[in-house]
Amino acid sequence: MHDFGLPPIDPTFKLVAALAVPQRWLVTGSAGFIGSHLLEYLLRAGHAVVSLDNFSTGHQRNLDEVRQLVGEAAWARHRFIEGDIVDPVTCRQACEGADIVLHQAALGSVPRSIEDPLRTHAVNATGFLNMLVASRDAGCKRFVFAASSSTYGDHPGLPKVEDRIGNPLSPYAVTKYLDELYAGVFTRSYGMQTVGLRYFNVFGARQDPNGAYAAVIPRWAASIAQGQSCEIFGDGETSRDFCFIDNVAQANLRAALVPGEGPRFDIFNVAFGEQTTLNQLHGLLCENLQALMPNLKVLPPTYREFRQGDVRHSLANIGKAATVLGYVPTHSVREGLREAMPWYVDRVCRHP
Ligand SMILES: NC(=O)c1ccc[n+]([C@@H]2O[C@H](COP(=O)([O-])OP(=O)(O)OC[C@H]3O[C@@H](n4cnc5c(N)ncnc54)[C@H](O)[C@@H]3O)[C@@H](O)[C@H]2O)c1
Repeated sequence: MHDFGLPPIDPTFKLVAALAVPQRWLVTGSAGFIGSHLLEYLLRAGHAVVSLDNFSTGHQRNLDEVRQLVGEAAWARHRFIEGDIVDPVTCRQACEGADIVLHQAALGSVPRSIEDPLRTHAVNATGFLNMLVASRDAGCKRFVFAASSSTYGDHPGLPKVEDRIGNPLSPYAVTKYLDELYAGVFTRSYGMQTVGLRYFNVFGARQDPNGAYAAVIPRWAASIAQGQSCEIFGDGETSRDFCFIDNVAQANLRAALVPGEGPRFDIFNVAFGEQTTLNQLHGLLCENLQALMPNLKVLPPTYREFRQGDVRHSLANIGKAATVLGYVPTHSVREGLREAMPWYVDRVCRHP
C-alpha cells in the first residue's frame, strides 16, 4: 500500500492530522449532509474554509452543529456565504483565494429530477459549470466534486468499474454524467486538476430524514423509531453499496491532497465495496434501533411497486481509489449504522 505522502488517517477518521502547509478550502453545499462533514473535518484539522450554500435542501442547524462540535476557535477560521451556484457572481466570490474546491452543492434525488428536470439541470449542470469557470479563473489548484453512482445507469455489470457505464435512467443521472464530461474538458482545455468521486448511497449523521426526497436510511430510521412501517419499493431484494460518511470524507481529502502536478482528470468510485439488500438494511436498522430503544415495537415493512428510475443492483469496485488515492474505507454498513444511529434517535426525539 502506498502512503502517497499523505498524513496518517486515524482509524476512526474522527480527526485528520493537520497538514504542514494549511490550504485554503472552499466547500459548497456546506449546510447539507456531506458538505457539513467535510467542513467539520477541515476545521478540526486546522484549515481555513470558505463555504457556500443557499439552504435549498441544507439547514442552518447543520452549520450550528458543526460549530458546536469544532468549538469557537476553529469556527473562527470559517467564512460562510449564503448564495446560489446558479449565479456566476456568487461562484466567483466564493472561489476567490481558494486552493482546493470540494464541490458538493447539487439537488440530489432521482424522483425530484423526474418531477422537475429543469431545476435539477439548472443547479447540477449550469451551477456546476459556473463553479468550474470560477475555479479556473481564480487559479484553484484542484477541483474535487461529488459525482454519482447513478452514472452507471442501466449497465448490467457488477461490480461497477469506472470506465464501463450504461445509459442514464433519470435527469439527475444525466446531470451528474455531464459534470464529469465538463470536468474532463476543463482539464484538457484549460489544464485544470479535476477529480470526480462517484458516491454510492452515502449515510450518516445530519442526513435529512424529512421531506419527500429523503434518502432511505434516515427515512426508515425515523419511521422505525416512531413505530411506523417502512415502505419498500419492489420486493426488497434490490441492493445497494451503502457507504458511511467517514469513508466519503476520507476519499475527498485523499483526492484533494494526493500529490500530483500538471493537468489531471480522474473519476473514482467511493463506496464500501459490499452489497446490502433493502430487506437486510431494514433488519439492520431494526436491530440497531431496538438496541437503543428497548421498548420499541417494530412493524414489518410495506411492499410497494418498483419505482421509476431506480437501478436494481449496485456494487462498487473500489480498487482504483485504493490504488491511486490510498483509500481504505474504515466503516462497513454495520459499523456505520451503529455510529450514526444515536444521532437519528436524538433527531427524531427532538423533532418528531
Ligand atoms: N447522499 C448520497 O448518497 C449521494 C450519492 C451520490 C452523490 N451525492 C452527491 O453529493 C452531494 C452532496 O449530497 P448530500 O447528500 O449532502 O445532499 P444535501 O441535500 O444534504 O446537500 C446538498 C447541499 O447543497 C445545497 N445546494 C443545493 N442547491 C444549491 C445551489 N443552487 N446553490 C448553493 N447550494 C445549493 C443544499 O442547500 C444542501 O445544503 C450532491 O452533489 C449529491 O448529488 C450524494
